[in-house]
This record gives sequence, structure tokens and C-alpha cells, in this order.
Amino acid sequence: MRVLGIETSCDETGIALFDTEKGLLAHDLYSQIAVHAEYGGVVPELASRDHVRKILPLIKEVVAKAGLQLSDIDGVAYTAGPGLVGALMVGASVGRALAYAWDVPAIGVHHMEGHLLAPMLEDTPPEFPFVALLVSGGHTQLVKVEGIGRYELLGESLDDAAGEAFDKAAKMLDLDYPGGPHVARLAEQGTVGRFTFPRPMIDRPGLDFSFSGLKTYTLNTVAEHKDGDGLPDDQTCADIARAFEEAVVSTLVIKCRRALEATGFKRLVIAGGVSANKRLRAELETALQKIGAQVFYARHEFCTDNGAMIAYAGAQRLAAGQNEGLAINVRPRWPLDTLPPL
Ligand SMILES: Nc1ncnc2c1ncn2[C@@H]1O[C@H](COP(=O)(O)OP(=O)(O)OP(=O)(O)O)[C@@H](O)[C@H]1O
Ligand SMILES: [Mg+2]
Repeated sequence: MRVLGIETSCDETGIALFDTEKGLLAHDLYSQIAVHAEYGGVVPELASRDHVRKILPLIKEVVAKAGLQLSDIDGVAYTAGPGLVGALMVGASVGRALAYAWDVPAIGVHHMEGHLLAPMLEDTPPEFPFVALLVSGGHTQLVKVEGIGRYELLGESLDDAAGEAFDKAAKMLDLDYPGGPHVARLAEQGTVGRFTFPRPMIDRPGLDFSFSGLKTYTLNTVAEHKDGDGLPDDQTCADIARAFEEAVVSTLVIKCRRALEATGFKRLVIAGGVSANKRLRAELETALQKIGAQVFYARHEFCTDNGAMIAYAGAQRLAAGQNEGLAINVRPRWPLDTLPPL
């Protein structure tokens, strides 16, 4: 079954074709980063309008790249939530309309299920069951995964998501949006041990996270070391970035280890934009090795939003006979643990 995947939940238009027998056939992404950069964050109305402009040309391009015709497509999967409602509506209405025109089934995919299953597109995919750490711009969640659609939320952030914290720290250091990769790059120049930032909530039992205190701590440290009215000097900025990244990473590592101990599982999947972070990957690999567990993640380009993960997740559900009626429904808020099992 060849499935067209459409992702438009935020600021990337992602399109892909996944074949349940041959795997990923083609994919492409148009990122709106340049559109939103001057505002320091995503402007929802601009995002929706840009999806409208890019979606159809991108679909044609991906189908051509795969060497296929539109008539070769057997199903359509589009992100139905969570996300920005206007942006979701673009992908959902185009996806649902194309499926109607081609007389093939369509399905609305949960964006975080897409992220969670993205490592399945790699050569050595994880087997079920596993613990998933979803760390993106909008989510920080630990999920017990026993199969597709069999999700139990173990813990989540009570305030900012990890990616959001990276973005805010970047703003404090006058780095570009989205901030995660910039903070990570600057942290490489940072002096180990000059600053030690608090690891939020690690001394409390449970698997929830909180990053807002760390954000305030970062802001105060920046203010204390200001050079006159401006920022701290370059080295101090790098040292702050380093301490911030270490605090986020070690908090995530501690909670992942706890989640593995609580479930008795030996596999951890990390997904979402922050799973691209090199220090997080390295520290998890070291920590999990010690307890005989293994970490899995997607290739870099499939950590952040993309169409491939939506095509994959939708293809699994469509191939199992799940699909939706003609109504176009999107859900800006949509708890992951309410999805039907496969
Ligand atoms: N190397 C990195 N280190 C840390 N953070 C990173 C890195 N690369 C990307 N990020 C962060 O990942 C986030 C983007 O990830 P993603 O595209 O998965 O999130 P989103 O789609 O905006 O949110 P959600 O999936 O929750 O709706 C941004 O906050 C970005 O700063
Ligand atoms: Mg995302």
C-alpha cells in the first residue's frame, strides 16, 4: 500500500510517500523558519498561508521524485492534531479532498504518534515494548509503548517543553530561532564546570518534568553577568549555554532511567526535535549501557517535523483497515493515550 503523508501542524510543510512493502519512497520538506525568524516564534496566520502556498507543489514534487503518478497512491495520511488549528486545517482539507477525488481511504494522524514512530524508518528499528521520551517544541513526555496505539503516559512537563526551554534560553542569549541547535553549538565552546544550573525535579519521585525554574535561573545568570547594557561576554554566553544544556540533558537522562526501571523495559526511543541533541544522545547511550538498555532515535532530519513519520504512522493504521469518513476533523489538543490500538 502506497500512502501519501502530509504534515502541516506547525511551521514545516512535510510531504512523503511510504510503501508498506518497500518502505519510504520519497520525502521533502519546506521549512518556514525564514518566514517566522524576524518574529522570534511561529506566527499562526502566516504559517497557515504559507502551507496553502507550498502544499500542492510539494506533493507533485514528491510523487515525481518517487517516479510515480498520482493514480498510484492508495491512501492519504494527514496530521490531524495536536498543533495550530489553521495550519492543521490546510493539511487536513487538502489530504481529505485528494483522497475523495482519488477514491482512496484517508486517515488523520496524531502528530506525536508520528514522532514516536519515526525511528521505525531506520535500518534497525526498535521492537515493542519500549519507553518513549517525546521531546519537542511543544511536548516533553515519557510514554510506555506496548504497540501502535497502546500508549500510557508516565510523566510530562508541568510547564515548558524541553524544546521551548531551549528556544527561550536562545532568546536570552540573542541567538536565532529555533534556538535548540544554536544553544547546542554555542555550548560546545562552553567551559565545563564554570556554572552549574539546577536539575529541576530530580529529587522528587515520579516522572514529571518542569523547566520554568531553569529558565528563570538562566535569565538571572545572564542578567548578573551583563557587560553594561548588553549581553555577557562571548565566553560567558557559551558557558551559560553549556550549563543550561547540561542541566536539561541530565534531567532527561535521570527520568528516562527511572522510567525504564519502573517499566522493566530495556529499550528507549527518543523522538522530537530535541532528540537531535548530540549531548542528549551521547549521555543516554552511556547511562543506558550501564543498565543493559538501548536507545533508539531517528536520523537527524526525522527528529523535527516531517512528512515521513506521518506517512509511516498513517500507513500502519490504513493497512490495518482503520480510516475516516468524509468529515474534516482536526484536534489542536489531542491526548496521545486516547488513540485506538491497532
Ligand atoms: N540539537 C538540538 N538541541 C536541542 N534542541 C533542539 C535541537 N534541534 C532542534 N531542537 C528543538 O526542537 C524543537 C523543534 O522540534 P519539533 O519540530 O519536533 O517541535 P514542534 O513540532 O515545534 O513541537 P511539537 O512536535 O510538540 O508540536 C525546537 O524547540 C528546537 O529548538
Ligand atoms: Mg513536532
